[in-house]
Amino acid sequence: MKRFTCLSLFPEIIRASALSSIGGRAVERGLYELEFIQIRDFAVNEYGKVDDALYGGGVGMLMMAEPVFQSVTKAKDDFRQIHGEGREKLIYLSPRGRVLDQQKARELSELDHLILLCGHYEGVDQRVLDECEAEELSIGDYVLTGGELAAAVLIDVISRMLPGVLPSDEAWQKESIASGLLEEPQYTRPAEWRGRAVPELLLSGHAARIEAWRQHAALDLTLERRPELLTKLPMTHEEIKAWLEAREQKTKASLPLLPGEQMKKGEKAN
Ligand code: ADE
Repeated sequence: MKRFTCLSLFPEIIRASALSSIGGRAVERGLYELEFIQIRDFAVNEYGKVDDALYGGGVGMLMMAEPVFQSVTKAKDDFRQIHGEGREKLIYLSPRGRVLDQQKARELSELDHLILLCGHYEGVDQRVLDECEAEELSIGDYVLTGGELAAAVLIDVISRMLPGVLPSDEAWQKESIASGLLEEPQYTRPAEWRGRAVPELLLSGHAARIEAWRQHAALDLTLERRPELLTKLPMTHEEIKAWLEAREQKTKASLPLLPGEQMKKGEKAN
């Protein structure tokens, strides 16, 4: 990704997120560019008109095709002046779109230029979306006041995948849902806090066992909260078997002993 261009009536909403913290440093370091185009700069009259009532009636106002079209054209021209031809896509943030996930973000991160169109009010005239071949993308099944927060989410998700943005390029791939699993519980000092102890194994220094514990804890949590994610996992047969065995052992260990199963002196529970 070389550049994100946001087309918006309220660019400050996106700026506040995308230029803070890691994203702000990444832009300063030139890892990608973040540009903003104020759609009102292409208003249809001297009063800054960019929206109008719906044909056929209905509540609210719709963003007009021409100011949006001009904004898209400027975004493309500006990119071309600096970078020449590139793989480019116009995304219209909208609850009608396909819902964003990590895989989609990864695909978009391969492009050179993403133009993010943020609608406000009731939306945008359909003709400009068709003319510019916009792809609609949603960040979830709920309705926001405008596309700006959704654009900020998209920039955040994609930018942290770009080379050099995170301290280690593998960092994001290991995290939570990016690996296909929910992240396992994590702990930092102190080893005991308000009577709650860190799982002992994590203090053992046994790297291989800790890694297995982490993977199994992530699988347990995913099974409990988002079982549908497990069907998409590229796990080997052996890995699944090891996890299921570990689960069985844990379940056994937590069950009360049956009569005749009394632990002998000196015997250890597993
Ligand atoms: N604009 C309004 N609601 C939205 C959503 N859920 N996702 C993306 N853009 C939106």
